[in-house]
Amino acid sequence: MLPYEALETLARERLPSAVFDYYAGGSGDESTLAANSAAWARLRLRPRVLRDVSSVDTSTTLLGTPLSSPILVAPTAFHSLAHPDAELATARGTREAGSLLVLSSRSSRRIEDVASAAGPWWFQVYVFRDRGLTRALVQRATAAGARALVLTGDTPYVGHKRRNRGDSTLPLPEQDFLANLEGLTHRALAEQAPDVTFQDIARLREDSGLPVLVKGVLRADDARECLHHGAAGLIVSNHGGRQLDGALATAEALPEVVEATQGRVPVLVDGGVRSGRDVLRALALGAHAVLLGRPVLWGLATGGAQGVRQVLDSLREDTAHVLALAGLPRLSDVGADVLAPLKP
Ligand code: FNR
Repeated sequence: MLPYEALETLARERLPSAVFDYYAGGSGDESTLAANSAAWARLRLRPRVLRDVSSVDTSTTLLGTPLSSPILVAPTAFHSLAHPDAELATARGTREAGSLLVLSSRSSRRIEDVASAAGPWWFQVYVFRDRGLTRALVQRATAAGARALVLTGDTPYVGHKRRNRGDSTLPLPEQDFLANLEGLTHRALAEQAPDVTFQDIARLREDSGLPVLVKGVLRADDARECLHHGAAGLIVSNHGGRQLDGALATAEALPEVVEATQGRVPVLVDGGVRSGRDVLRALALGAHAVLLGRPVLWGLATGGAQGVRQVLDSLREDTAHVLALAGLPRLSDVGADVLAPLKP
């Protein structure tokens, strides 16, 4: 892969500045945004020697779905801002890379159209103020072949971004904003419900019959509560530094969430994962897989489906390379011993 910074620079050149800022930015002072990548970089690796790494296998299985690597595509909104083929291109590129797409509730193309271009995919759920609307979306996603739901738990309200004052500055046609919400009488009904609770996990499971993962978990007590209410997996995330600014980095939160689940469900993590080294660090802290937000958007902006595929392929290849240099030919070789103890 192009180093992440070079890819981001290319995307910045390609995109209108309001769009680049919407994608790249975080909430508040952007301190959590910066903390995410810094926290991965702080973790030093302890490579093993003389381990025959002539063949390295990055493949894995997640909730029954075989994948080329433990690298997934995080849900991000409004891909038509990045490329005219929008989520259709993201879905194609992801499928060709042997990865899995988590499709945002706020996609700019219809669920059914994205599904027909996609390989395995999960549907990210924002519980909207209009719960009937939420249920209808979930039923459409289920009928279209989503294999799981991802309930985003960290967005009772949308975090305030410093670089953008709301979506109104974005060149986003109304039909893209409401791609999945035709017939909606008022935009306000498609705002997030601030009264979403753990009870919604079971409700979503009943409405869909699908496993429900919860995204945005940063604490052991919340992790336990999610499991108690039937979550099939957890995603440690601070929304890429776009919700509560000052929230801890995901690399800092991951160990307590992993410990709380005691191996009962898969734990995924996102936020600032930019290299094979970061993937290895996440796995060493106990994650089963990672998700990429902005790198996929930059791939989409610079090369459409092919760009998305390149980002995923090259991160998978970089992960294989790093595993080889660390003396870890199989993902099952990765354990906590790969990390050096943190110096104060
Ligand atoms: C997001 N994210 C997000 N999450 C979600 O659950 N639903 C959504 O619609 C969106 N939309 C969205 C838009 C944009 C522009 C960004 C950057 C992020 C959060 C996303 O799923 C993920 O948690 C972070 O992007 C991961 O961090 P990195 O890889 O971007 O650092």
